[in-house]
Amino acid sequence: MDQQTQLKQQAAERALELVKPGMTVGLGSGSTATLWIKLLGEKVRTGGLKIRAIASSDDSEKLGRSYGIPFTSFDEVESLDLTVDGADEVAPGLALIKGGGGKLLREKIVASASKQFVIVADGSKQVEKLGKFPLPVEVIQMAEPLVSRELRELGFTPRIRTQPDGSNYITDEGNLILDCSGLLIDDPAAMAEKLDSIVGVVEHGLFLGMANMALIAEAGGLIERTR
Ligand code: A5P
Repeated sequence: MDQQTQLKQQAAERALELVKPGMTVGLGSGSTATLWIKLLGEKVRTGGLKIRAIASSDDSEKLGRSYGIPFTSFDEVESLDLTVDGADEVAPGLALIKGGGGKLLREKIVASASKQFVIVADGSKQVEKLGKFPLPVEVIQMAEPLVSRELRELGFTPRIRTQPDGSNYITDEGNLILDCSGLLIDDPAAMAEKLDSIVGVVEHGLFLGMANMALIAEAGGLIERTR
C-alpha cells in the first residue's frame, strides 16, 4: 500500500468508528470511500454489524452487496443516519468539490438526505480556494453545447469527460460530465447559484454547507475538521 493509500485507509478506519448498530448508512464513491466500504463490509460479514445502506453509485452498491450489506431505498427510509464519502477538494467551511469519479449526482442526493455527512480524505485534498481541481458539471447530452457556452461565459474552460477508449463518459443516469477548469472560485455559493440556474445542468460538484465533518489523514496524524 503506498503512502497516500495508507492515509486514506487511516481516515476510513476513523470513519468506521462512527457507525453504530441499527444505522442507515450512505455509501460514497471513489477510492477512499471504497476503502471505507470494505472495512464496513468486513464488520457486517464477520462482526455481525446490523445496518442498512443506500449507495451513491452502482459500483459502491455492487461492492457493498459482495460483503452482504443489506440495501434499502428512499421508498423505505426518509433519511440516512450517516454518509461517508471522499472529496476532490476540501476548502474552509468544508466547501467541497466532488465528482472526480463521475458520481456527483447520486452523491449529492445521498448527502442531502444524511443527518451526518462525513468526508474521508488524505491531506492532499485540502485547499484554500476551490477550483484547481476541474469542477465536474453533469449535463443533459442534448444541452451540452448550450451549457458549455454558458460555462465559458462564467470563465471556465469546459471539456467533455471521456473514457480511456476516447468515447464520452456517461454517468449512471445517462448524462455527460463537463470538467470545468481554469477558474479559482472566489465565492462558491454565488457560483453554485449561477450553475443551478443554467438549464441543462443536472447537478454540479460544488457541495456547500453539506459536510458536518472531514477526517483528513496527514503524515503527522489525523485531523477532524468541522464546519
Ligand atoms: C466520486 O464522484 C467523487 O466525488 C469522489 O468521492 C472523489 O472524486 C474522491 O475520490 P477519491 O477518494 O478516489 O480521491
